[in-house]
Amino acid sequence: MKGNTNSPRFVFPRWLNLLRPAIAVGGAGGAVYLAVLVTLGFSPKTVSVGYQPEQPVPYSHRLHVGELGMDCRYCHNTVERTARAAIPPTQTCMNCHSRVRTNSDKLTPVFESFATGKPVQWIRVHDLPDYVYFNHSIHVNRGVGCVSCHGRIDTMEEVRQEEALSMGWCLECHRAPEKHLRPPEMVTDMNWKPEKEQIELGRRLREERNINPPTDCITCHR
Ligand code: HEC
Ligand code: HEC
Ligand code: HEC
Ligand code: HEC
Ligand code: HEC
Repeated sequence: MKGNTNSPRFVFPRWLNLLRPAIAVGGAGGAVYLAVLVTLGFSPKTVSVGYQPEQPVPYSHRLHVGELGMDCRYCHNTVERTARAAIPPTQTCMNCHSRVRTNSDKLTPVFESFATGKPVQWIRVHDLPDYVYFNHSIHVNRGVGCVSCHGRIDTMEEVRQEEALSMGWCLECHRAPEKHLRPPEMVTDMNWKPEKEQIELGRRLREERNINPPTDCITCHR
């Protein structure tokens, strides 16, 4: 299952991926690839903002994060180390649910998954096209908070896509990251607020840590 079929990302022709290795080699192939990308144009689309699929288990971030106070990294434990944030395996849920709410119907798929060893079939909410390279650890370690890209997850009963995840959206921050930088140890804190002006703090962090997100094509299309 790959999200909603109305998603404009399907407009982008799959065959473009065939050209992708060319960009790594550079030269004429790379030039053709970029020419094709440019010809296809920079249409200012909104990509699935508000997309909120129904999940096989009514897992609530509002309850587990907002009320129980769990840190994102308890479940998304690769987010600081790898490109992907990782959806937790059933075992993570069972750390508590082998004892908590063991009679709940809502948890039936979790208990079945635990018994059979087959993972719960969570449905992806955010999904960039294959021709875009994204990496969580780079952002998180430089002090971009989850909330900047995912919104107030701690208030969501079901996860919904808050931002367009379009090229324009990525570039807006890459051109002016100071609006979003915070101390890296605060990246998962949904309630964090700068003591004074965000822009002042952001500029200082940017300078001290020499943070300069690139905007050339190869950064995200490699
Ligand atoms: C107890 C485990 C747990 C904790 C803690 C947790 N999550 Fe999740 N998260 C999940 C599960 C399970 C899913 C997949 C189901 C869903 O989308 O609701 C998920 C999905 C997501 C998604 C959507 C993934 C996609 O498919 O695109 C985002 C974004 C996310 N979490 C962010 C966060 C953030 C930010 C925090 C901390 C503020 C957090 N999560 C804390 C378990 C957790
Ligand atoms: C740190 C402990 C902990 C972990 C880990 C945890 N939960 Fe929970 N969960 C709870 C508690 C406590 C409640 C019940 C709150 C209450 O009393 O209403 C709960 C409630 C739920 C409910 C609602 C059950 C009902 O009958 O209303 C669902 C569904 C659920 N959790 C799914 C999950 C899933 C899926 C995971 C793994 C991604 C997970 N939980 C991980 C502690 C946890
Ligand atoms: C700079 C923006 C940005 C930040 C910061 C960010 N994310 Fe994401 N996140 C994304 C994008 C974009 C995707 C979709 C990735 C894809 O489709 O390849 C995503 C996907 C996810 C997913 C789905 C699994 C995956 O890796 O594709 C989870 C879970 C998630 N994010 C959790 C988090 C958590 C937790 C944090 C904070 C510790 C966080 N994100 C910080 C942009 C961000
Ligand atoms: C809210 C701000 C923000 C958003 C949104 C954002 N980025 Fe970034 N990005 C950064 C920062 C900060 C860095 C780190 C730059 C540094 O280390 O100097 C970075 C670095 C990167 C890098 C690593 C560049 C390198 O090689 O050093 C890639 C790749 C990247 N971003 C891709 C993306 C993509 C793709 C998107 C959109 C889906 C995106 N980013 C959205 C702030 C952002
Ligand atoms: C910071 C990351 C980033 C950089 C840098 C970047 N792009 Fe993109 N680009 C994206 C993302 C994300 C998408 C996917 C948008 C979507 O899903 O519609 C995209 C999509 C595209 C598309 C598809 C058509 C469209 O509008 O959706 C074209 C063409 C494109 N990029 C060309 C370029 C060119 C040429 C450059 C260099 C001048 C470039 N990109 C630099 C992130 C980036």
